[in-house]
Amino acid sequence: MALHLDPAQEDRVDTLLSAMTWQEKLAQLQIAYRPRQEDARELVRGGIGAVFWPRSAEAANDLQRVAVEETPHSIPILVALDVVHGHRTVFPVPLAQAASFDPAVPESDARTSAAEAASAGVRWTFAPMVDVCRDPRWGRVVEGFGEDTHLTSVLGAAKVRGYQGASLSDGGSVLACAKHYVGYGAAEGGRDYNTVDLSEQRLRNVYLEPFRAAVLAGAATVMASFNTIAGRPVHANRRLLTDVLKDEWGHRGCVVGDADGVANLVAHGVAEDLSDALVQAFSAGLDVEMGGNVVDPAGHTTVTPDRLSVERVDDAVRRVLRLKTALGLFDDPYVDPAAEITTPTQQGRAATRAAAERSVVLLKNDGTLPLADGVRRVLLVGPYAESTDHLGAWVQATGAPAGTLADALRAERPDVALTVLPGASFFGDDAGLQAAAARAAGEHDLVLVAVGEPSSLTGEASSRSDLRLPGDQEALVRAVAATGIPFAVVLMNGRPLVTADWIDLAPAVLEAWHLGTEAAPAIARVLTGAVNPAGRLPMSFPRSVGQVPVYYDHENTGRPPTTGGSLQAEEIDIGLQGPGNVDDRYTSKYRDLELGPQFAFGHGLSYTTFGYGAPSVSSSGLAVDALEAGACFKVSVRVTNTGRLAGDEVVQLYVRDPVATLAQPVRRLRGFRRVSLVEGESTIVTFTVGRDDLGYWTGNGSEFVVEPGRFELHVGPSADRTESVDIHVE
Ligand code: NOJ
Repeated sequence: MALHLDPAQEDRVDTLLSAMTWQEKLAQLQIAYRPRQEDARELVRGGIGAVFWPRSAEAANDLQRVAVEETPHSIPILVALDVVHGHRTVFPVPLAQAASFDPAVPESDARTSAAEAASAGVRWTFAPMVDVCRDPRWGRVVEGFGEDTHLTSVLGAAKVRGYQGASLSDGGSVLACAKHYVGYGAAEGGRDYNTVDLSEQRLRNVYLEPFRAAVLAGAATVMASFNTIAGRPVHANRRLLTDVLKDEWGHRGCVVGDADGVANLVAHGVAEDLSDALVQAFSAGLDVEMGGNVVDPAGHTTVTPDRLSVERVDDAVRRVLRLKTALGLFDDPYVDPAAEITTPTQQGRAATRAAAERSVVLLKNDGTLPLADGVRRVLLVGPYAESTDHLGAWVQATGAPAGTLADALRAERPDVALTVLPGASFFGDDAGLQAAAARAAGEHDLVLVAVGEPSSLTGEASSRSDLRLPGDQEALVRAVAATGIPFAVVLMNGRPLVTADWIDLAPAVLEAWHLGTEAAPAIARVLTGAVNPAGRLPMSFPRSVGQVPVYYDHENTGRPPTTGGSLQAEEIDIGLQGPGNVDDRYTSKYRDLELGPQFAFGHGLSYTTFGYGAPSVSSSGLAVDALEAGACFKVSVRVTNTGRLAGDEVVQLYVRDPVATLAQPVRRLRGFRRVSLVEGESTIVTFTVGRDDLGYWTGNGSEFVVEPGRFELHVGPSADRTESVDIHVE
């Protein structure tokens, strides 16, 4: 694993540690940002352990030189930056990457990002974000892999591997940081930074698992989250930071705080002042404070050895020094400025183009897409027609810009006459623009409506209470629909949207997220049919914001609904009609909504069709002991491309435990495989199902149980379209 040093290296760390003063040690336990190079130099001269990237390889070298030549122990610094989905070459936002249902996508992002960032002197990124989130109001859903624990775990681990490579010391690798530990995605009301209250069982089964997977994949660092859980802020939560993360899981790297997350303990109301906050956080198991509040460059600190144990500080410093050793910084902290990658390489562009093409989801299609051969005159309308806002949230100024959809369509199909009109702006009141678009529609064979959510409405501190398209964009869709000309809607957004007011009018809808530097050509290639879409939704799309949270792996409740609600006035005398009156009416639903989400988790169409055989299992029963010893069920299904085009299918496996001591989700994703099949081709997809897939965390400490009984294995193309087969655990 990444953080195992050889004995000589461990000795060097110990020798260094024993030579350091209290202040020198504490200075190593912070990271800070200073935009002016001179200010950053002063921090480094004062012995700070880590800084944010100073914007070039040369500037990073300059700071390393100060660290090595002007500090008593010549300890190089860690240079960090949020490289979340690309440094120069911008990949699709992580939520879009999740839609690829393909671990190779986040891995290729991370490999490319690591090479580019490391060439600029960055050796630590604050990614991947593995916060499971079931609430699309939260702006940060764009940074994660969606609502599912298993998908997030698999893709998060892939990203960790990509960033850290085969060896941290190979120069093209960066430290990964699994964030935000933990429960940040469960903020009440989807409002960023808000309070979280979670049961132990849900914390273990849903929110902790992706972090455990990241640590198992070797994630060198983990970031504490801003939220409280059951009243205790995670930054000062000893049970989570030390007992679970370090002692139970054996995390050998660092725990870093989030930006001013330690200082925020005062506002949370659990610390008297900054000094108290620092003592509580480090005592709880935090290793690096983000903000630079521990020691100033002159060596002043209010954190004294009588308030914070020397052993704890030594442990934290040792962890920091180990990371620097593993990266090879003590051997050579410099990078070659001439080799700094400042624009996307051909390889990087090809990788992000492929990632973008794999992340597009076809939500709806009556055959309008792809563009038919006879389509010669296309009208492109909507604020995304000529926008370059495809990079998405969490991109630095270093990100290579995207082009426009209009230009990409012209390049992809020069034979088609393309007219471009705005139709609407992102936020405005645009009746005149809509009318002009509708008037022009009649002169065309097809209208493409490119609408969405600008990236500034997504990401940190960008929660929304309304999930519809902003501005007058929905009115544009309706105005185009009213013309009767065939049309397709292309959505660019960073979260599930509520589409209820127009979705039934649209013949075809393509979900194109924020796909990065190569977004526009990728979308154009899907629209024209050069690429057959196969992405799947990593989050349910709600029918209404009032239905949130709506997620596929919910519990059944004692009164599961069988029909949607109705607003009819009806009088039922509950008391006199007896138990029968619970049928339908007294079930868990909304009176004013259909059942379920608008689009289910795992949903996504193709330009071809696929057929499934019945799933079969290798054995129908296994004993708990055998499962504990590593035995597995195998479930197989034949999948056939029954259409006339080559395409990919995402085969999904869900597990249901119908009777358990604790009520279990109606189903849980435990396997997925994206397969490519040419027309007429069949393949057999096999999943293994073992202890980890059948058991659950009870919420009683680290207790994980597999309970005997019947289990259902559901296989199919999305959470709401599966066939099942039973197995038994004896
Ligand atoms: C705050 C964000 O919550 C976190 O994700 C990020 O890594 C830090 N700022 C540093 O930029």
